[in-house]
Amino acid sequence: MTVRSLWCASVLSLLSLTPPLWATEISCRNEDGKPVDWYIIYKLPKYMRHEAAGSGLEYMIMDSLTVVWKLSKNLINMTKSALGQTLQQLYQVYESKKNSTAYVMYNDGPPGKMNYSWKHGHTKGFLLLDKSQGFWVIHSIPEFPPFPQKGYHYPPTGQRNGQTAICLTFQYDQFAKIDKQLLCYNPNVYNCSIPKIFCPELSNLQELCKGSKLPPVPQKQCLSKLHSAQGESLLSFAKTQSYHEDIYLTWMAPKLKTDLLVESWQRKGREFFSNCSLPYHVYNANLIKTPWNSSFSTYDDHSKWCVSRRYEDQWTCIGDLNYAPQQAKRSGGFICMQNQHIYKAFRQLVYRYYGCRVS
Ligand SMILES: *[C@@H]1O[C@H](CO)[C@@H](O)[C@H](O)[C@H]1NC(C)=O
Ligand SMILES: *[C@@H]1O[C@H](CO)[C@@H](O)[C@H](O)[C@H]1NC(C)=O
Ligand SMILES: *[C@@H]1O[C@H](CO)[C@@H](O)[C@H](O)[C@H]1NC(C)=O
Ligand SMILES: *[C@@H]1O[C@H](CO)[C@@H](O)[C@H](O)[C@H]1NC(C)=O
Ligand SMILES: *[C@@H]1O[C@H](CO)[C@@H](O)[C@H](O)[C@H]1NC(C)=O
Ligand SMILES: *[C@@H]1O[C@H](CO)[C@@H](O)[C@H](O)[C@H]1NC(C)=O
Repeated sequence: MTVRSLWCASVLSLLSLTPPLWATEISCRNEDGKPVDWYIIYKLPKYMRHEAAGSGLEYMIMDSLTVVWKLSKNLINMTKSALGQTLQQLYQVYESKKNSTAYVMYNDGPPGKMNYSWKHGHTKGFLLLDKSQGFWVIHSIPEFPPFPQKGYHYPPTGQRNGQTAICLTFQYDQFAKIDKQLLCYNPNVYNCSIPKIFCPELSNLQELCKGSKLPPVPQKQCLSKLHSAQGESLLSFAKTQSYHEDIYLTWMAPKLKTDLLVESWQRKGREFFSNCSLPYHVYNANLIKTPWNSSFSTYDDHSKWCVSRRYEDQWTCIGDLNYAPQQAKRSGGFICMQNQHIYKAFRQLVYRYYGCRVS
């Protein structure tokens, strides 16, 4: 055996013994437990049109490895679900009391029927990271996720309506930008751990975690370009509560230079209708159709997302705020991307939307 082949053989054996670095790092995990750059979940409502009531726990999912909607083989209350697999990493870190890892859970309606927070943003999510990599999940589910000592479960309050969740994997450098965006969100943080080694990069999150009075936010609107670990370009919109306008109509549509079709939770009699008074229009969806031809009304859907009306523009945004008058006074935001697969998947869900009123 030559020296060179010996060297190769030892490298090969090393490679076969150690799993790929990427697989051991903190990241979004799909239903097979595989690390993925991103995934998106759409939990279906319990009540669909012309169908018997479902469990309210079925969901469809797409991820960076399978870029079309698939109906999950697991229910959302199972640890094997993508949210369960992803959160498992957080619960393990919590148990091992690792001081090299940071996490934050926030929700305007925290778990366990605690006080709903009107002071904070209308925003829900969680993140987990170490100094190499981590994930950020943005979702619409009330009272979720459970406190770390409780382990994974899914709240009954999230069952009846449709819900969305997006998980994104980021390298460490992006979390300093996410920290600034979250200051604009002003989230209701209900459980967290941010060891000192994450300062100054996560200094806003550390203050939010301690429940301290926050520094003043310099702008009313915070916009940031982010890149996922595998290079997906993202645009993060975050509005503060002093920006008293509807985020879709007065900020996202003009900024993205596109007419938007919006799907968000609507309560009868309290909705905004399609608005074509500004150069970029916002149309309110009222019926959603899955790839399997089931359909459901926006009144049964608590998710919050929008897409470009024109196929050429390709924007999809997923986030926190409903298209509704009361939400203009709340802080919160959206993650937007121009991924053709994500766009196609969401654009095809819009079955019907309100036209503009002729004035
Ligand atoms: C999930 O919900 C279903 C339907 O209610 C129930 O039968 C099952 O036991 C639940 N699973 C878990 C792990 O909670
Ligand atoms: C972090 O944990 C390690 C191992 O448990 C310990 O040796 C170290 O002192 C800890 N560092 C801090 C800053 O607490
Ligand atoms: C609800 O808020 C009030 C006032 O801030 C506080 O006194 C009370 O302890 C809170 N309840 C719970 C369950 O956290
Ligand atoms: C987070 O929750 C754990 C129990 O689940 C508790 O011991 C800890 O004090 C909480 N931390 C914060 C910052 O609320
Ligand atoms: C449409 O939006 C404009 C600008 O925000 C607002 O002044 C107007 O009242 C809205 N029209 C309707 C019908 O909601
Ligand atoms: C859904 O409906 C369309 C149009 O009626 C039909 O072409 C298609 O095959 C249906 N898809 C499924 C999965 O049933």
